[in-house]
Amino acid sequence: TRRCARVLQLTLAVIKPDAVAHPLILEALHQKILENNFVIVRKKDLIWRRSDSERFYAEHEGRFFYQRLVEFMASGPMRAYVLAREDAITRWRELMGPTKVYRARYTSPSTIRAQYGLTDTRNTTHGSDSEESAQREIAFFFPEFSIDQWLEKEEPCLR
Ligand code: PPS
Repeated sequence: TRRCARVLQLTLAVIKPDAVAHPLILEALHQKILENNFVIVRKKDLIWRRSDSERFYAEHEGRFFYQRLVEFMASGPMRAYVLAREDAITRWRELMGPTKVYRARYTSPSTIRAQYGLTDTRNTTHGSDSEESAQREIAFFFPEFSIDQWLEKEEPCLR
């Protein structure tokens, strides 16, 4: 068996419409990704239809915030990344900070949501929360991207 210098993991990171609307914030977040040693595997700017938003957040249908979340995520351009790194999922979520902006400001003031988040809905970024959701979400945003083909070509050690 081949020995691995690094074991990479993939995650989906999304910069939400509130942050994409501000070019300086978008650029700061892009720099943060690079500074934290993520490899940018794919990057895409896109706008969702409301139906995309509803499909993506189907598991939250019925929650009190569902309508506003779905509406907001289809309200303007977003940027999506497939990122690779050791412990990419946890690391990106640590950088984002807690979902709720007031909590982020209180408990982890150096995180993305604490610094740039506006409300619990307009909270700047999304990140996959498990390997299963990373796979599903990468396929949702990048249907043309094949993880298997990428693995064959780049030959990283992936977990
Ligand atoms: S849970 O209970 O763990 O499933 O919820 P959580 O992962 O924290 O949130 C799921 C997504 O819903 C968004 N969210 C909200 N939007 C608007 N208002 C309120 N109060 C609210 N609470 C949670 C949250 O940002 C998550 O969206 P993503 O895109 O995953 O960040």
